[in-house]
Amino acid sequence: MTPSAAKRAARARPIGVFDSGIGGLTVAAALRDLLPAEDIFYIGDTARVPYGGKSAQTIERYSIEITALLLAEQAKLIVVACNTASALAIPRLEELLKVPVIGVIVPGARAAVAATRNGRIGVIGTRATIQSRAYERAIHALDAGVDITSQPCPMLVPLIEEGWLEDAVTDQVIRRYLEKIVKADVDTLVLGCTHYPLLREPLKKFLGPKITLVDSAANCAAAVKKLLGPLAAPRNRVGRLRVALTDSSSSFLRVAEEALGLQVGDVELIPVRNAGAASLQ
Ligand code: DGL
Repeated sequence: MTPSAAKRAARARPIGVFDSGIGGLTVAAALRDLLPAEDIFYIGDTARVPYGGKSAQTIERYSIEITALLLAEQAKLIVVACNTASALAIPRLEELLKVPVIGVIVPGARAAVAATRNGRIGVIGTRATIQSRAYERAIHALDAGVDITSQPCPMLVPLIEEGWLEDAVTDQVIRRYLEKIVKADVDTLVLGCTHYPLLREPLKKFLGPKITLVDSAANCAAAVKKLLGPLAAPRNRVGRLRVALTDSSSSFLRVAEEALGLQVGDVELIPVRNAGAASLQ
């Protein structure tokens, strides 16, 4: 292959994106909007969702296994479209991977620091994300003076995967989790789980207009655009989105399709192999 043909082939490779389930499709939708020429290969680890209550070691192992599946599809860049995996597995993935890897926490932290006016930011996420304090570190690295109130919301992901996006039960759960956030007088709330943008409307209804909701999807897509550089697909092509799940559970995929206006098409089934870190070399 000539060097220019090799370059062209490298640019045509897909961006690999993963989440524990459908949440990362909020990031895939933002990538489709911003980078329509790119092919995206998305894996939702539906066989093992949710990640949010699992140990750091398990989340790291799952992330390595799913990344190995994305690399087998020739991914040119890995987007960890899951806050839980971003919080707990990015350092190890960065160590192991030859292709660039990007998560959702730093882009979300940047957007939150840019949005706050009173210096008080709330963060909601899975238990593992909140316990990791990854958002606190990322926000304080940008502005050490910001006051942060964090709240784990473990019941929100199952409600979303169940499709209960407009439901009195979901409203009640939101109220119970977010009372502490409202009392802390934050003016910005980070949706620190890629599932949560699917609950943007009920969250807004409860929080009112004074609190700005920040999600990492659009900010992560902008960071991916920057990171791609010379690996970006030629602009004149039309990219496509391929979605694979590790278990057949397409019903909740339809939830995201409808809520995000995404054309997912046929969904592939891709079983997880127990691959160790060596599979990423
Ligand atoms: N969408 C994932 C996140 O951003 C998580 C949900 C889970 O698997 O618990 O953390």
